[in-house]
Amino acid sequence: MKKNDSNIKKAIKYLNNNQCIAIPTETVYGLAANAYSKKAVTRIFKLKRRPRNNPLIVHYYNLKDLKKDCEINNTFSKLYKNLCPGPISFVLKLKKISRISKIITNNSNSIAVRFPRHRLTRKLLKKIKFPLAAPSANISNSISPVSKQDVIDEFGHKLKFILDGGPSKVGLESTIINLIGKPQILRLGGIESKKIYKLINSLKNNFKKKNKVKVPGTSKLHYSPGIPMRLNAKKNFYNEAFILIKKRKKYNKNYFYLSKTNNLKEAAKNLYRTLRTIKKNGYKKIAIEPIPNFSIGEAINDRIIRASKK
Ligand code: TXA
Ligand code: MG
Repeated sequence: MKKNDSNIKKAIKYLNNNQCIAIPTETVYGLAANAYSKKAVTRIFKLKRRPRNNPLIVHYYNLKDLKKDCEINNTFSKLYKNLCPGPISFVLKLKKISRISKIITNNSNSIAVRFPRHRLTRKLLKKIKFPLAAPSANISNSISPVSKQDVIDEFGHKLKFILDGGPSKVGLESTIINLIGKPQILRLGGIESKKIYKLINSLKNNFKKKNKVKVPGTSKLHYSPGIPMRLNAKKNFYNEAFILIKKRKKYNKNYFYLSKTNNLKEAAKNLYRTLRTIKKNGYKKIAIEPIPNFSIGEAINDRIIRASKK
């Protein structure tokens, strides 16, 4: 307990000095900096090698803080009440006058925001006087980190401080929903879409249509493990790592299980860690067996489809 408190103090010191640090969230680790400071936010883009036209998600402690910067509407209020804090991000209108650095939104008047649930990060957000801009704490286009070690693997000594909050519980990025105009899911993620459909009936049909809003993070190259990945595989070839969700009778040193019990939540939590392990072990190819396409399985499939694109 004491250690966490002193680490939060350290984190605050860095953030107050316009530095970037890594923070734990229930989805993935974020590369965080003061969203009101141009200097701080510029550091995120540099460190991550993020193109300037790809906007960042801003993390708030609560509704009261958010209202200083954003316009809200009824759909937002309903989702906030039912799902926050949690693994969902909202695209909202920025207020005409707000302190959010323009670099975050690439000068647009819309902004993505989220209320992370991780206990340490909530403690941190409560204690600082600004929201945190935080993309996933990885070099652009690589896999999101789900532990302190993953963040170290991405940035090494270039990053001054990592607030260690243990392994991320959800393991996939947040679901992003656009709430400007007709609500629309832009990225599948930590909150299963069914839960959102239950709250907003009109949404279901809208997601089936092609996304009109361009989200840079939904580009092909995102979430890439850096080695070829073959989907819907029934078996693996001799030099391939094989990612499985269902237990096989035979032992094979190239088998990597996402779940002990064929559980999709556990599989989501383990996906990025498994991809990193496979890469570290020196495999040059990955095969993955079919993943059931319901509940969080939808988001897993979304990510592995992207990961398999060249
Ligand atoms: O779970 C998460 O969302 C994690 C944790 C750290 O909070 N963050 C995360 O951030 O995944 P990032 O930057 O890796 O992905 C955010 C995605 C990007 O694809 C970006 O293009 C999109 O959100 N985005 C950001 N602002 C947007 C906006 N105003 N309108 C539409 N899309 C936006
Ligand atoms: Mg990312």
